[in-house]
Amino acid sequence: MSLSHRCTPVNSLSLSNTLNEIEASALYELGSLKSETELENWRLAYLGRRGSLTTVLRGLKDLSEADRKEAGSKANKIKSQLEIALTEAQTRVKLSHLSGLSGQESIDVTRPGRPSTAGRFHPLTQMIREICDAFIGMGFQVIEGPEVEWDHYNFELLNIPKDHPARDMWNTLWIDYSDDTGHRPMLLRTHTSPMQARTMESKGPPVRVIVPGKCYRYEATDATHEWHFYQIEGLAVDKGITFSDLKGTLYEFARRIFGPERKVRFRCDYFPFVEPGVDMSVDCFACDGRGTGCRICRESGWLEILGAGMVHPRVLEGVGYDPEVYTGFAFGLGPERIAMLKYGIEDIRLFYSNDLRFLSQF
Ligand code: FA5
Repeated sequence: MSLSHRCTPVNSLSLSNTLNEIEASALYELGSLKSETELENWRLAYLGRRGSLTTVLRGLKDLSEADRKEAGSKANKIKSQLEIALTEAQTRVKLSHLSGLSGQESIDVTRPGRPSTAGRFHPLTQMIREICDAFIGMGFQVIEGPEVEWDHYNFELLNIPKDHPARDMWNTLWIDYSDDTGHRPMLLRTHTSPMQARTMESKGPPVRVIVPGKCYRYEATDATHEWHFYQIEGLAVDKGITFSDLKGTLYEFARRIFGPERKVRFRCDYFPFVEPGVDMSVDCFACDGRGTGCRICRESGWLEILGAGMVHPRVLEGVGYDPEVYTGFAFGLGPERIAMLKYGIEDIRLFYSNDLRFLSQF
């Protein structure tokens, strides 16, 4: 940095020339400075207490009054110009630091970009959507219902009165609140079946809905049981619906999800809200249906994926449908079990363990 203007000029002409030189060299130097340190040195060299412009200003006192006025006004003008130029240079340097470019650096447009991680749906969400799509394709409509439910819908309207032993089939988590009679009327729903009654109550026949949602049971967990899990309820009610409609719909569902090769089995089962009742199983993926030594299917060769049956006349009556005119079928399936079968997952608890090594495979 040139500091050749330090000498105090002796008359107004030489002072004016000196001021011009100071201005020109200051602005010239400023244009090439790239760091805050360089800028600060520049400020000290020109505008600081011992800077060249300040020194000139100090020397004004030796001039005649007229010269002093003229030179003083010029010097002050140059001073404020240099201050403005310094502020602009400081902004320029700051911006170039922010954008990571310090003059020598440049952008390499040929460098490959950083890959951005794409989010995705949880495998169960994917499975639920796939199952819903299969039923939507068969004319079903998707609806949802509350997870905190009344005893009235979860049990009573499903033909399971208070103190009926069938309640033991569902290990219930009750909400800690008693009504005037001392009963606890609220619970975390044990299945999605309460939506059967809710749907029929809110709309007349024909009904054809599926209801995906969370259920809760007070039970020990193992490879195929969770205490909270999803179900997808299905309900179709109309004139003339028969058991063959139920079988045909569920066979078609299995074909759409598992393909035509997979074996499917229906067996009699008991649910108080259907008559007759069945459960449907698919041959075990882990042992190929052989069963021997298989912990997934408990050596049966089959994995139960849903319960189903013809809607019980008492359920139809309970919601004001005439069972002499209308019939229907219902089913409740477990998407976790279906995803296990489809993808060969050996433990249901993996779905809820938040382990990215598992989740990122889907
Ligand atoms: C029921 O919950 C009945 N509401 C199903 C039903 C609906 C029957 C309509 C008739 C008519 P169940 O308890 O068997 O039934 O459960 C149905 C399905 O939910 C099972 O086949 C299984 O796939 C799944 N499921 C049941 N309990 C668990 C659990 N603890 N963990 C994971 N999935 C489960």
